[in-house]
Amino acid sequence: MITLQFQYTHVLKFLSEEEIQLMQEEVDISHSLLVEKAGKGNEFMGWMDLPTKMDEALISEIESDANKIRQKAEIIVVIGIGGSYFGPRAITEALTSPFSAFYTGNKNPVIVYAGHDLSQDYHAGLLDLLDKKDYALVVVSKSGSSAEPAIAFRILKNHIEKKYGPAEAATRIIAITDSSKGALKILAEKHGYKSYVVPDDIAGRYSVLTPVGLLPSALAGCDIRQLLKGATEMQKACTATSSLMDNPAACYAAIRTLLYRMGNQIELLVNYEPALHYLTEWWKQLFGESEGKENEGLFPAGVNFTSDLHSMGQYIQEGQRMLFETVIHFQKPNRSLIIPHDEANLDGMNYLAGKTLHEINDMAALAATLAHTDGEVPNLDIFLPAMDEHSLGELIYFFEFACGLSGYLSGTNPFNQPGVEAYKNNISALLGKPGYENETETIRKRINEATI
Ligand code: PA5
Repeated sequence: MITLQFQYTHVLKFLSEEEIQLMQEEVDISHSLLVEKAGKGNEFMGWMDLPTKMDEALISEIESDANKIRQKAEIIVVIGIGGSYFGPRAITEALTSPFSAFYTGNKNPVIVYAGHDLSQDYHAGLLDLLDKKDYALVVVSKSGSSAEPAIAFRILKNHIEKKYGPAEAATRIIAITDSSKGALKILAEKHGYKSYVVPDDIAGRYSVLTPVGLLPSALAGCDIRQLLKGATEMQKACTATSSLMDNPAACYAAIRTLLYRMGNQIELLVNYEPALHYLTEWWKQLFGESEGKENEGLFPAGVNFTSDLHSMGQYIQEGQRMLFETVIHFQKPNRSLIIPHDEANLDGMNYLAGKTLHEINDMAALAATLAHTDGEVPNLDIFLPAMDEHSLGELIYFFEFACGLSGYLSGTNPFNQPGVEAYKNNISALLGKPGYENETETIRKRINEATI
């Protein structure tokens, strides 16, 4: 049984029930294409039955490796970009305290990230930290050739080998990459790194429930079995039926598609928990890379409320009317916190004494939804019981399935990313990567001829 609830009551001012139900036929067709793996990009559909097909031996291996590394590292550096970065970061940040780096006697290592940008200051600062800490590296790249993680790994491999010596360093490095090709695969084999495979039939942004997301999560102390259990429940619910009444991902895909067709070009994913910032970043990659093709596609953006209510709130309320919001709500916080009574009441806040901060956060969410729908911004709501592994597993699969379905509803291939490849080819050409000689010559000629 799934616990996620998708509600569209705050959209009914803009769309009627009848209009939504009229989408059923289209959804039936797209749902069949998806579950029968008969649509565009069907060579990258491995994510669809990943939760139910997850091998017990693989889960145990990940847990066992994570336990070994956790014994000897205070810091784990996860190196990756795109799906090899957002997926792990979405989970580890959602499920661990933002203050864990400051705990003393922390039983979980702190997870930090590298290779997701080319900032010299960021990476030099990281090396300063690693000089003083025991650490390990998890390097993730499906292709094994993205420039950013490859460069970061070169720098960090040099650092870790100097710090511990090559033999010990090799026991502190885990690679997650293609089963047979790419530079990272070659490095892992040559140095004897423990390695895991990103399956061939899963694109980077859909890889979060493979070792790409599972190993960093286990290293951070998360219960990956519960994560997979949540995803499994959602997989069953999403694949069993295309009914808009019974399949929440189908209903979400249908309504966001309708809203787009009505001229709402931007979907804002809204959260009320700072820990969800990177879940939003992952979601942006998932939908942006899947739908943004052939000059079409909803533009996925994110806001962190209530903070952004004091900045982007103005635009949302009164700017161009091309937005709709999808709001994530967690019903039960993990910690308790009650507003204290204050005898003097100089701040005038005693009217809130005895309430939990979570109740007030919920009121803020209601206040924003009412204001924004009054301002002609349709709102969709996703409710989950708690900020825990099970809920997150459900949510991740819900979005993956809705994304595939939305892609087919708009007639695109949601499983390729030709635009990302264009940038990757250009940076390889500009940096003079061997094998790109022709591209290098063409791009240099183009730059020289351009009047800048
Ligand atoms: O979705 C994708 O496939 C891409 O955005 C990749 O995740 C990203 O480019 C990183 O690629 P790789 O894991 O091969 O280094």
